[in-house]
Amino acid sequence: MTILPDDFMWGGAVAANQCEGAWNEDGKGISISDVCTGGSHTQSKRITREIEEDTFYPSHEAIDFYHHYKEDIALMAEMGFEVFRFSIAWTRIFPTGMEAEPNEAGLEFYDQVIDECLKHDIEPLITISHYEMPFALTEKYNGWASREVIDLFVKYAKTLFKRYKGKVKYWLTFNEINSGTLPMGGFLSLGILNEETTDFTDQVDDPQLRFQGLHHQFVASALAVKAAHEIDPDYQVGSMNIQATFYPRTCNPDDIIATQKQDQIVNYFCGDVQVKGEYPFYIDRYFNENDIEIEMEAGDLEILKEGTVDYYTFSYYMSNCVSADPDIDQSDGNIIGGVENPYLESSEWGWQIDPKGLRYTLNYLYDRYQIPLMVVENGLGAKDEVEEDGSINDDYRIDYLRRHIEQMKEAVKDGVDLQAYTPWGCIDLVSASTGEMRKRYGFIYVDKHDDGSGTLERKPKQSFYWYQNVIKSNGEELEVESK
Ligand code: BG6
Repeated sequence: MTILPDDFMWGGAVAANQCEGAWNEDGKGISISDVCTGGSHTQSKRITREIEEDTFYPSHEAIDFYHHYKEDIALMAEMGFEVFRFSIAWTRIFPTGMEAEPNEAGLEFYDQVIDECLKHDIEPLITISHYEMPFALTEKYNGWASREVIDLFVKYAKTLFKRYKGKVKYWLTFNEINSGTLPMGGFLSLGILNEETTDFTDQVDDPQLRFQGLHHQFVASALAVKAAHEIDPDYQVGSMNIQATFYPRTCNPDDIIATQKQDQIVNYFCGDVQVKGEYPFYIDRYFNENDIEIEMEAGDLEILKEGTVDYYTFSYYMSNCVSADPDIDQSDGNIIGGVENPYLESSEWGWQIDPKGLRYTLNYLYDRYQIPLMVVENGLGAKDEVEEDGSINDDYRIDYLRRHIEQMKEAVKDGVDLQAYTPWGCIDLVSASTGEMRKRYGFIYVDKHDDGSGTLERKPKQSFYWYQNVIKSNGEELEVESK
């Protein structure tokens, strides 16, 4: 008997805007990621509002999954994937988000991707909106700041639920919905672009609009959950949060309270609304102190109650400390930074590596929500070297993943109901925060570089063979075997 249940699902995750490319093919419209330039760890991506002729946009070709999906899914099948998490580009289905009828060519593309998964016995796990709403909705409505976007999203979601009925079981409404609690999530997740904003990492922030936008996403997500269950009672629809695990920097009660408050807003707020179906008690004080007033329509609160999610998923890359002392330095992190933890090492991009934090997180999330959990993103963004013989020896990535899987197993022993693991960027793709290619996560290397050059050739890394064995043994064999 293995520690993880026999029906545990192993796989990997990607998002359309970071892998597909083909940004203007077969009727696709411009998405918010299509107007973001490349950047780096130290230089922010630019949001250009219009497509500039001589500017490089990483999403436009990305790794060209659009034309390579058969080969890519075959490689995933070779690793033994049981589940593949990918997103659908809203702009392939409704190019501006506002058309009355969907774009048939876009629907057909995902017919083929889904069929390819099913051919290899891979369960599709689909994110409906992953950081790429139609840019036309930003221009017309300032993204989710406007209530009109709710119906447009629900129309889009229903189109997918009807089209892929009988083939897909697992859906996620919004990727990392709680990134909208943070300034960087303004454009990235909510499509809100305030007048003066030019830099992706330094957006002109308007918390009132962000939290109003989140309310619209909550209502839209709940309506989508309800519609999914009506269209197919077998559909399982989940929420997806960015997990920013926080520890108090010291046992000073001020640090403890500061940590708890930050946890409530960043980590719990969206989950509480989507799992429990109501706004939590602590949010009023936060809204009052930040001059935020949410406009709701009659019936919104009932909708939230009726559209609670079936399972909870999250991304987990790192943890951070919180200090009440404003003079303490902040470190980097995924969308939100924090104070450095002296017990942890960091990745080259400054994200603090904390496998045990995953066990801790799984326990507290299960404790809080008591519904099945899935880790739908995890991984190490690192530079890879191709050796002269063509091999890619990414033992640092294996070490990172091995230590996280060990802690997932500990959490399952603790009694947590964990159902799946889909490490991020199972095939190299464009980084969401920086637009780089050299921040690689994959088991599969793609010959594509930051300046857009490369043959797009795919190659298994050492981690490919290691993960194949992990899957085959249902997580029992975590040591490295030579190929
Ligand atoms: C998550 C996102 O925040 O982290 C992904 O859902 C993203 O889209 C991933 O790619 C890793 O972040 P980055 O910035 O290294 O690509």
